[in-house]
Amino acid sequence: MASLSLRHIYKKYPGGVTAVSDFCLEVKDTEFIIFVGPSGCGKSTTLRMIAGLEEITEGELYIGDRLVNDVAPKDRDIAMVFQNYALYPHMTVFDNMAFGLKLRKVPKETIKRKVEEAARILDISHLLDRLPKALSGGQKQRVALGRAIVRDPKVFLLDEPLSNLDAKLRAAMRTEITKLHNSLQATFIYVTHDQVEAMTMATRIVVMKDGVIQQVDSPQALYDNPVNLFVAGFIGTPQMNFINGTLEKDDDGYVYLHFGEIRIRLPEEKGNADEIKPYIEKEVIAGVRPECIVDTPMQIAAMQEASFEAYCDVTELMGAEIYLYLIANKVEVDESLKERKNVVIDRSGEQKLIARVSPRSTVRAGDTVTLAIDTTRMHLFDKETEKAIVFLTEEEKKKAARVAEAEKAAAEVEGEQTETVEETPAEEPVEEKTEDASVTDTTVTE
Ligand SMILES: Nc1ncnc2c1ncn2[C@@H]1O[C@H](COP(=O)(O)OP(=O)(O)OP(=O)(O)O)[C@@H](O)[C@H]1O
Ligand SMILES: [Mg+2]
Repeated sequence: MASLSLRHIYKKYPGGVTAVSDFCLEVKDTEFIIFVGPSGCGKSTTLRMIAGLEEITEGELYIGDRLVNDVAPKDRDIAMVFQNYALYPHMTVFDNMAFGLKLRKVPKETIKRKVEEAARILDISHLLDRLPKALSGGQKQRVALGRAIVRDPKVFLLDEPLSNLDAKLRAAMRTEITKLHNSLQATFIYVTHDQVEAMTMATRIVVMKDGVIQQVDSPQALYDNPVNLFVAGFIGTPQMNFINGTLEKDDDGYVYLHFGEIRIRLPEEKGNADEIKPYIEKEVIAGVRPECIVDTPMQIAAMQEASFEAYCDVTELMGAEIYLYLIANKVEVDESLKERKNVVIDRSGEQKLIARVSPRSTVRAGDTVTLAIDTTRMHLFDKETEKAIVFLTEEEKKKAARVAEAEKAAAEVEGEQTETVEETPAEEPVEEKTEDASVTDTTVTE
């Protein structure tokens, strides 16, 4: 078991690619951390740096209290599980799992005990004599996990371990891995671009984009309070709806979001908040989760000021819910115009929205319906910076002020200390970096 500390880590590849920039993260013992982000955002690179398979260009990596930048993978007390399982085809399941321990000259009896114990946890005891070719994808994945488990590592690193499996098996393995994490009480760092995996398994999620951390938070906090447009759009299916609109204070004194013909009233406390003042008469992006668009008469009656009409283009029955694909501010086109050639219809003012409603909904494709937005759960983003406009409660404002004051005081003290240090420079030995070729060649699981 171990904590990890990643301090200002960079990975710059020769040729000018910066795959990871200023990555800072404190991982607590037994946490289940998941890195998510689109393809190429630096998830695997970060994981491989933790494993020691990739050199850290800049920054410091601690496992527990130990600086491991220059420690070989095999000495880091970690085990990595790869997407492609990497099993030895000519070895039985038992031998595949035992191989790493044999290399370490672990006594035979201990190896047997450990392999059998891991096989029991993973429910593959009946497969120990088989060769990998006689296993299903899910079973292979379990063997790959078993090979990591027998080593009792402090940290498990998993790079998209489920991406080769079909949807049903993935869902089953998700639960298995969560159970495994609970029973092993080890630290897990897991890479995926599947946000469902991230939402269901992680204690905390790290959302990355272009090598830069966007937000680190618990799944629920990420979903409820995304810090920017990217995170808001990345987490949640169907995606959060984004509406380009203008905030205006209308004659009745309330603040409304205007888009096309539609206006949606902001809740009073938000409309009057200091945070909103700089955005009045300005364009913003509103974010509305599909479940925050409601369609029942009772809900709409309670949210009159946030109701609007939209055309329902398509409905998708998902079993427990229906997705409505809506068009608000739909451009009505004269039939005779449609038949004429060379007529370009400007649909840029149309606003597409997806709503997630109960299967009892009476809305049908082709209907024009009244809906409402639950504005208490509507997000607003600055159009320029794409950052969320954050509304703080009085208590949070006081806390933020206290933190700012403490930081200011600390900065002042630090400034004084730096001056004294400069007067008497510390004589620290300059460490020479050793290039260890085996670092990149070693398979961590072995
Ligand atoms: N050896 C290399 N040399 C140069 N650039 C590299 C090298 N390896 C990776 N990169 C680049 O670094 C960036 C991050 O790659 P990485 O494999 O970490 O992405 P990822 O988030 O794991 O993506 P995916 O979801 O597709 O696996 C990419 O732009 C990639 O092209
Ligand atoms: Mg990857």
